[in-house]
Formats: sequence, C-alpha cells, structure tokens
Amino acid sequence: MATAAACLRVASPFTGPPLSAPFHVRAARRGARRAGLSVSAAAGGSSPTVLVTGAGGRTGQIVYKKLKERAEQFVGRGLVRTEESKGKIGGGHDVFIGDIRDPESIASAIEGINALIILTSAVPKMKPGFDPSKGQRPEFYFEEGCFPEQVDWIGQKNQIDAAKSIGVKQIVLVGSMGGTDINHPLNKLGNGNILVWKRKAEQYLADSGVPYTIIRAGGLQDKDGGLRELIVGKDDEILKTETKTIARADVAEVCIQALLFEEAKFKAFDLASKPEGEGTPTKDFRALFSQVSSRF
Ligand SMILES: NC(=O)c1ccc[n+]([C@@H]2O[C@H](COP(=O)([O-])OP(=O)(O)OC[C@H]3O[C@@H](n4cnc5c(N)ncnc54)[C@H](OP(=O)(O)O)[C@@H]3O)[C@@H](O)[C@H]2O)c1
Repeated sequence: MATAAACLRVASPFTGPPLSAPFHVRAARRGARRAGLSVSAAAGGSSPTVLVTGAGGRTGQIVYKKLKERAEQFVGRGLVRTEESKGKIGGGHDVFIGDIRDPESIASAIEGINALIILTSAVPKMKPGFDPSKGQRPEFYFEEGCFPEQVDWIGQKNQIDAAKSIGVKQIVLVGSMGGTDINHPLNKLGNGNILVWKRKAEQYLADSGVPYTIIRAGGLQDKDGGLRELIVGKDDEILKTETKTIARADVAEVCIQALLFEEAKFKAFDLASKPEGEGTPTKDFRALFSQVSSRF
C-alpha cells in the first residue's frame, strides 16, 4: 500500500405539491411527509439535505445517483476522498472531498444536512503474487493508517459525532452480517478485525440518541436492483441459510427508503434477498421495515 492517504479501494418536508406534479412525485412527497425526516425539514419548507459518504464506493455511488434522480424529494450530497472519485461520479459543488479520519476535513460536507448515509469502509488489498492456478489462497493486508480500527471505528465515529453535533435527524449506517461471530473469517483478513470495529461503530450509533437505521448487508453483488424479494433478519441467522447475498443496488434503495418511514428508525437488521424469480420483488418498504423489531 502506498500512502495512508491513498489507502483502500480494492475492494422531507414538503409544502403541498403543485397540482401539476406527476403522480409518482406526489406519491413520493406523501411518503416523505409521513417520515420524521420530512416533518423536520418541513419547518424550513424545503427538501431534506442528505449526505452519502463513501460516495465514490460501489454502493455509495448508487445511493448518490438515486438521491440525484430524486431531486424533487432530496437535496443530495456526496463525500469522497479524492478529486478522482469526484470526477468518477460526475460530482459538482455538491460533492465534498474529505477524509473521515480527520473531522475537520468533513465538517463542511456535514454542515446543514438533515440526514447522513454512511457507506465508507476499510477495504483490504490483495497481496501481490497470488497465483490461483497454483492452488494458492489469496492473502490480504490493510495499508498503514487505513486499518478497520481507523476507518470503520474512528472514521465512522467522527461522522456520527459531527452529524449529531449539528442536530441531524437520522443516520443510516451500512455494515455487514457476520458481526456476532468473533471468529468470522472476515475478522482474520489482514489481521484487521473488521467486523469487530464495524460493530463497535454500530453500537456507538445506537447509543448516540440520534434516530438511526443500521443495515447489515449480506454478500454484495453488482446486479440490478428492484428484481428480488428482500429478506430481513437478526443476529446473523440469515447466514445459516442459502439466501445470504444482496445486490448493491438493493442495499442503496433500502438506505434511501429508510429515510422515508418511521418504521425504519431505531432499528438494526440483517439484509439479504431471495434469488431473482423466487418470491415477489419488494416494493412495500414500510412493510419490510415493520418486520424488524431489533434495536441492535
Ligand atoms: N463486499 C461485500 O460483500 C460486503 C458484504 C456485506 C457488507 N459490506 C459492507 O457494505 C458497505 C459498502 O460496501 P462497498 O463494497 O460498496 O464499498 P466500497 O466500494 O469498498 O467503498 C468504500 C468507500 O469508503 C471510502 N473510504 C475508505 N476510507 C475512507 C476515508 N478514510 N475517508 C473517506 N472515505 C473513505 C472509499 O473511498 P475511495 O473510493 O477513495 O477508496 C470507498 O469509496 C461496506 O461497509 C462494506 O463493508 C460489504
């Protein structure tokens, strides 16, 4: 790994809608008005400003795109680490550059937001020289300064503290299934204990007093979203089943839907999906969040 700064990377409040608004816009506004987030922003008479961090990442960039596509509902912002990532997602003045390990560098991105979606994560890099044709197993490492302790714990904590200090109305945090098992193979990866540090940040958020939604995703897949029935669970029970993966696009949609329903607040859940073609693609997110009763 090069430098610490360059580490990682392998891995609503609406006034009444105008009569001319198309049905889907009116419906979206109704949905947002029901949520606490919308109510809080309603005081100012404008749409809530939502920041997604890790906006250059594989799930984060889908969230950023969805926020931008729903400009009638949200004012979307992104936080990335580099100019390169900003260019990659076609970001303008609404994409900030900062490093979550340095609170000062993220202050301007956080200022004035109503909700925060955290999609930053330490990502292990593969050691060079791995040859699968020789039956070798890949080995992984984290760059100096970019271990899960620094990114998934300190970095997430910095974001939660900053957002709480300005009175943010909701924080959505994407984590990972597997955190109930200290011996989970992901903890061994690069000696990073990644699930342990992620879990610590999740606990910090749950204890913060800020309305939160913790989404512990199953194995992420780069597939189209909206095509599968989503499954929620708790305590890694889903990991004992055959359906433990989910499309990044579906995780991104759940992050945004979580902002629209009171039923998503103060909850933590595992998230996966049935295979495409099995079950009914999830459209009713209120019903999905209502299935969740666990606060952590
Ligand atoms: N991979 C899986 O199968 C899996 C399964 C379950 C859950 N998850 C979790 O789901 C979440 C999303 O995963 P993903 O694969 O979509 O993420 P990803 O592509 O690895 O993106 C992570 C993002 O975090 C950013 N980041 C890292 N360190 C940072 C720092 N110090 N300051 C600011 N930004 C920083 C990275 O920025 P750069 O672009 O600049 O590197 C990157 O954009 C993660 O929490 C992941 O652990 C993953």
